[in-house]
Order: sequence, then C-alpha cells, then structure tokens
Amino acid sequence: MKALTWQGADKVSVETVDDPTIEQPTDVIIEVTSSGVCGSDLHLISVLAPYMNEGDIMGHEPMGRVVEAGSESGLKVGDRIVVPFNISCGHCWMCDHSLYSQCETTQVTEKGTGASLLGFSELYGSVPGGQAQYLRVPHADFGAIKVGNEHEDHRYVFLSDVLPTAWQGVKYADVGEGDTIAVYGLGPIGQMAARMARHMGARVFGIDPVAERREMAARHGIEVYTDGADTIAELKDLTGGRGPDAVLDAVGMEAHGSPVGGAIQTAAGFLPDAVAQKVIETAGVDRLSALHDSIDLVRRGGTVSISGVYGGATSPMPLMTMFDKQIQMRMGQCNVKKWISDLMPLVEDPSDPLGVDDLVTHRVPLSEAPEAYKRFRDKEDNCIKVVLDPVAG
Ligand SMILES: NC(=O)c1ccc[n+]([C@@H]2O[C@H](COP(=O)([O-])OP(=O)(O)OC[C@H]3O[C@@H](n4cnc5c(N)ncnc54)[C@H](O)[C@@H]3O)[C@@H](O)[C@H]2O)c1
Ligand SMILES: [Zn+2]
Ligand SMILES: [Zn+2]
Repeated sequence: MKALTWQGADKVSVETVDDPTIEQPTDVIIEVTSSGVCGSDLHLISVLAPYMNEGDIMGHEPMGRVVEAGSESGLKVGDRIVVPFNISCGHCWMCDHSLYSQCETTQVTEKGTGASLLGFSELYGSVPGGQAQYLRVPHADFGAIKVGNEHEDHRYVFLSDVLPTAWQGVKYADVGEGDTIAVYGLGPIGQMAARMARHMGARVFGIDPVAERREMAARHGIEVYTDGADTIAELKDLTGGRGPDAVLDAVGMEAHGSPVGGAIQTAAGFLPDAVAQKVIETAGVDRLSALHDSIDLVRRGGTVSISGVYGGATSPMPLMTMFDKQIQMRMGQCNVKKWISDLMPLVEDPSDPLGVDDLVTHRVPLSEAPEAYKRFRDKEDNCIKVVLDPVAG
C-alpha cells in the first residue's frame, strides 16, 4: 500500500510499504477514506524529530471502512469507523476512570509516557499511523467510533482528535453562560475550542498572528486579536481590568515570538538523535510565549487550560505569578472516548451548531501529502486544515 512516511526533519514522502495485518483478535484493518493532518504532525517533523525513525508512518486522525475484522473486535467488514488518536484498552484502571490517554495496557513504560498513540514517534509506541491507504486499528473493540452514513467524512473525521481535544480543553477551562475566555492559537484546535466555548454561552476572544485564521474565527462570532502586549492590555480592559475567567492555550511548543526556545529547538534539530533526546529530556526546549501570555492574561483565580503540546523537561515557568494569581491549570492529551457521547449529537445535527463544515481548507489525495504538509506548516494558500484522501490517489 501507499503511506506517508517520515524521512527526516522537515521531510516526509509517500512510499510503498507492506499492507498491515491483523495481529490481535481485537484488531481491525480499515481502508482509510479520510485522514487529517494535525499541528502535532508538525512537531514530529521538527522539535520531536529525534524520536522519529526513517519510514515511520505518520497520521493519527483517520476514519474509514473495515476491510478485515478480528474475531474479538465486535466489528464487521463494511462498518464505517472513526479511530481515536489514543489507543486505549477500555478495561484497565485508567480506562475505568475515563483517563483513556493514560491507558495502562498501552502505556509506553520504557519512555515513561502515557497511552500509545497512532503515528506518534518512539515517545508514544512507534505505532504505524493512518496517513495511508490501510491502517491496523489496535484495540478496535473499545476504540472504534462507529458512525452511520448520514454525513460525509468531514463531519465525522474530527471525532478522532480535533473535536474531543477542543472539547476537553473547554471543559477543563470550566466556562459557561456569561463567562469570558481567551483562546490563544486559531489553528484547528483553537478554532473548534473557540466555537465550542461560544456554544456553551461564553464570550470568546480568539488570538492568532495569522489573518485568515482570525477571519475564520470571526465568521463564528469570535472576537479576534493578534498576539502581543497590546492585546493583553485591551482584553484586560474589556474584562473589568481583571482578565478573562479562563485562557485556553491551543498553540503549543512552537509558539511564534519565543527567541530563546526557538534557538534551542533549532540547535537540537542539528544534534544526533541520542544527544537531542537528552536535550529535550533535561532542558527547556519549548517556545513558551503563548503559555506565558496566557498566565499573564487570565484573571486572578482563573483557569489556564493547555491543549497545545509541550515537551521540554525543564521549561521555565513564572511560578511566582502563577501562585500569586491563584491560577488553576489543567492540561494533557485528550481522553478521546470520554467526550464522544457529548459530541456525536452536535456533529450529526443538520444545523451544524459547532460549524464543523467550515474547517477543512484543503482536501488532497495522499500522493500530494508532502506539499500539503509544507503548505500547512508555512500557512501558505490560506491553509488551516488539511485532510488527506487516500482513495483519490
Ligand atoms: N492535547 C491534545 O490531546 C492535543 C491534540 C491535538 C493537538 N494538540 C496540540 O494543539 C496545538 C494546536 O494544534 P493545531 O492542529 O491547531 O495546530 P496549528 O499549528 O495549526 O495551530 C497553532 C496556531 O497557533 C498560532 N500561534 C503561534 N504562535 C502564537 C502566539 N504566540 N500567540 C497566539 N497564536 C499563536 C499559529 O499561528 C497557529 O494558527 C498543537 O500543539 C498540537 O500538538 C494537542
Ligand atoms: Zn491531531
Ligand atoms: Zn486501558
């Protein structure tokens, strides 16, 4: 089959690889019909490159049709499923507590990390990903999200990651009717988080340096700003001088405007893998401007909810301010399955209350994935969300 493979920092290519096969009775194989490209994939071709290996198959936002079903998968050939990006067993202590991204059956203990993730480096189990024609879905008996045929793929495919991640971020931010929230980063995660917070009744400020991302958010009733000190001052003014009740960071480790973290990331990119891993595991490689701005902006006693991925072991944090302002922080990989019952009715609602229909800017054949990655990374051609279509070629 054809698959998009990691070949080095900033380098992915479509290669012919072996078809996946059933390894456990709880597995299924799907023919992938849609597969999202995520901001997290950009981390894998840059900062987290030392944890990737040549030939690793990328992708953790897939959906498709079952073409082969393991005897204990509970699924049958022809079923249409969305696949969560985290692989969870559904019956360990963590899964029993709905902490699916910490599943103890699939945890990557040798790296000290949580549940295995599809297409996500040695840190998360080096599991082959879903930017491919076919995908082996481990623990499909629990993980698979069965969907009907009422809607096209683009309504459902984001149940794999974007929608539950944004939903968890907003739930952790704990805002509702009459509250205020600022969302840093209007990539796909921030777009959906902002719309969801609005759907829950909050007044939402969206912050991003990229004009077309602000424009997309503005179409959904979000009050938009570019990043920087002036925005912080203005938003404090608009919220009684205090700052919003919550701030959601949907930027992550590659924030623009962080010269020190940027220099360390660039330097780490030139080191051999083992040395670069050591730097990441012992130093602060994150670009922290969005997170530090979030802490600055949030009101005293408010909540900072971090959806963006961070990776440095000793990234400096303003603990005095965090303590003095009495800030609550929540963060983590999304526990995808926990939120599906909340989300499915919204996704299937013909009136599209979350605006899922207005997110994909580029749907391209798998063969064009390398150019699409570049367009997404460089924010060219108004690219906000790419979905790969392996059926189209
Ligand atoms: N927690 C989870 O389970 C989970 C799941 C999926 C994605 N993520 C993470 O969420 C983050 C966002 O993902 P995405 O797909 O939306 O990616 P993205 O790269 O498209 O979005 C990031 C956005 O942040 C903006 N930005 C950069 N610097 C900024 C700054 N200083 N202030 C304000 N905005 C700034 C960029 O312009 C961009 O629009 C990534 O870190 C990704 O790894 C986390
Ligand atoms: Zn993703
Ligand atoms: Zn489990």
